[in-house]
Amino acid sequence: MPRVKFVETDGTEHQIEVIEGQTLMEAAVANLIPGIEGDCGGLCACGTCHVYVSDDWHSSTGEPDELEKGILEFAFGVDARSRLACQLHMTGALEGLVLYLPERQY
Ligand code: FES
Repeated sequence: MPRVKFVETDGTEHQIEVIEGQTLMEAAVANLIPGIEGDCGGLCACGTCHVYVSDDWHSSTGEPDELEKGILEFAFGVDARSRLACQLHMTGALEGLVLYLPERQY
């Protein structure tokens, strides 16, 4: 299975295996990644799965659509790297993806 690394603000790293097709929010919650809450269950409605995509992976993960951009407006600390993990589906092409966790979700 392809692997993804989540990095906390203090530099603590969590490398997990993710089933292809699964969202990175689902994988994070299943693996108890701190700070990924996923309150809406992946409906792109809560913004509690905010992550930062590292710059070198930006082209692989693509841009958020208009709905995702709208929800991100309510997230804390949003910048050009911001994505909602529930909108990122795992593929083999994302093997080795690095995601950084925000300081907080609200
Ligand atoms: S889980 Fe609610 S927006 Fe991602």
